[in-house]
Order: sequence, then structure tokens, then C-alpha cells
Amino acid sequence: AAEMFDRGLLAGQHVVITAGPTREAIDPVRYISNHSSGKMGYSLAEAAIDAGAQVTLISGPVNLPAPARCQRVMVESAEQMLEASLNHVSQCDIFIASAAVADYRPAAIAEHKMKKGKEEIMELHLVKNPDIVATVAALENKPFTVGFAAETKDVIGYAQGKLVRKNLDLIIANDVSRSDIGFNSDDNAVSVISIDSIKELPLCSKRQLAAKLVEIIAQAQTGSAK
Ligand code: CTP
Ligand code: CA
Repeated sequence: AAEMFDRGLLAGQHVVITAGPTREAIDPVRYISNHSSGKMGYSLAEAAIDAGAQVTLISGPVNLPAPARCQRVMVESAEQMLEASLNHVSQCDIFIASAAVADYRPAAIAEHKMKKGKEEIMELHLVKNPDIVATVAALENKPFTVGFAAETKDVIGYAQGKLVRKNLDLIIANDVSRSDIGFNSDDNAVSVISIDSIKELPLCSKRQLAAKLVEIIAQAQTGSAK
């Protein structure tokens, strides 16, 4: 079997993938999160493994089993996801950020379960989370870095902005205003954007899409001067 993997598109490559949502604690029993299922990231991990890569999957809380032949690191918060990412990127060739990281977290985690007060309105103070993919892309020995952008309008424009701002090599954009695709769907349609190209991938299963994306990423990475 080892010889088979040697011939894969990503043979000998170490790929780190973030996936799923993050969970930002409010108190011991509550948190802020989102509806990310982790399916796209897990499908990418499987496709990368099938292409012969050594894969580290850094996962927020999801209801998915760890792919076979994969190192999975479970985390909860964005800060933990950043720490785990930095622990694993130093020897990696490709970093793929598919996680739906919470943009903000409670400024403080209450030590005890918060009690309902007399007030009709309660305010929660939030602080910005670190940007994991931008932090990785700013490293001196930066891996080939791929981001995702889920948008509801001006999809290509916003995604191009993120590509440039975060110093990414590729960004995979999808229109989550469409009812046939998105966070919990088994299918997806995306645009793959680099600094000088846009490629549309039509609607298909996340599994098929992942295989196609791995192919595109492997080609783009080979083409990029390292
Ligand atoms: N991302 C990240 N760390 C964060 C926020 C986002 O690594 N704290 C990554 C995501 O995994 C994704 C890319 O950045 O690959 C774009 O995420 P997105 O939420 O679309 O971008 P933001 O910069 O957070 O902008 P906004 O949510 O305002 O659109
Ligand atoms: Ca965001």
C-alpha cells in the first residue's frame, strides 16, 4: 500500500487542515458557536490522505469520526485552534483553513453559571479572536496557505479582499445565500480564487469537490515558487 501512496499527488507532503466550528465559552454551561458541520474540512482531509499526504486535522466540536490514517487534534476555542495550528504548521507544506472560527469571544469567562437578573436587557462584552489563517500566512516559513470564504453577497469581491488581506495563496469562495449549498449540506459549489485567476467548480458532493480541490491545490502549490 505504501508504494501506492508514493504516487499520489500529495505524496510526501504534510497537510494541516482546520475544520468545524469553534466554541467560545460564556460560563461553565454556555457558549457562542455557529452551525458549521465540519463536513468540508473532513472531506478535504480524506481526499488529501487518498492523495498520499500525511494529514493533521485540527477540529472544533463536530459529529464526525476521525478519518482513517489521520492525526486528529480536537480543540474547542479559537485560541486553542490557533495554538494547535502553530504547534503543527512548522513542518507542514500546505495549510488549509476550512474552520468556521468565531470572530469574537466573551471578554471574560464567568467562573460560575451566570444568573438571570432583573434587567430585561443584558450585554455581553466580546473581544476579537486571533485570525488563525492570517497568523499562519504571516510566518517566515509560510506553508502554501488556503482559506475559505463563505459569503452571502459580492462573493468574489469579498473573497479576493480576504485573499490579499490575509496573504493567502488560494481562497475557496462559496455563496451561502444559496439554499442548495452551505454549512450543513452534503453538496457545495465554489469558486477557487488566486491572485490572478478564478475557477468555478459546479455543484457536486463535498466528497467529489474535495478530490477536485486537492488536485487544484496540489497543482497550484507545485507551480508556486518555494
Ligand atoms: N479564519 C481564521 N481565523 C479567524 C477567522 C477566520 O483562520 N479568526 C479563516 C477561516 O478559516 C477562513 C478564512 O479565514 O479560511 C475566512 O474566514 P471568514 O470568516 O470568511 O473571514 P473573516 O476575516 O472572519 O471575515 P468576515 O467573517 O467578517 O467575513
Ligand atoms: Ca468570520
